Amino acid sequence: MTEYQPMTLLMNARQEAKQNQDPSAKYCTLATLEQNDASQPRMRTLVVREINADSCVLFVNKLAQKNLLHLNEAKVELLFFYPSLLQQFRVRGELSLMCPEVLETHWQHKPYISKLLDHFYHTVAHQSAALEGSFEV
Ligand SMILES: Cc1cc2nc3c(=O)[nH]c(=O)nc-3n(C[C@H](O)[C@H](O)[C@H](O)COP(=O)(O)O)c2cc1C
Repeated sequence: MTEYQPMTLLMNARQEAKQNQDPSAKYCTLATLEQNDASQPRMRTLVVREINADSCVLFVNKLAQKNLLHLNEAKVELLFFYPSLLQQFRVRGELSLMCPEVLETHWQHKPYISKLLDHFYHTVAHQSAALEGSFEV
């Protein structure tokens, strides 16, 4: 009955979305709470590096608000939406830091252009710069 387990359903849907060349197959939305205001949710698009039976692997820029050093063990929600299938999956859990050896292996396989982009964020322009002005929703 493995194929009916929630994470298996998600993995299969992601695989199908990839076969459909669904651009959303590569991404998810990570929701956390603001560090200085727990009543304020905050969401952002992230590349999904890997999904397995008990975890979703993500890389995040440590200079951004979602800095895992602050959010380790925080409760979070991930949303996966695949337009080509008209299906969405919500995954709730806790963040945990990848061990350095595994992180190093992932880093070695990261495309060179993505490494350059990380360097750019680190040295030139941090992510999450606020735009001026505001509007109501
Ligand atoms: C298509 C797309 C993919 C992204 N992938 C990542 C990612 O894998 N890791 C990451 O740190 N930020 C990624 N970002 C940027 C985040 O959405 C976010 O703006 C940034 O990380 C700042 O996060 P913060 O809101 O926690 O400060 C991506 C943005 C887009 C539009």
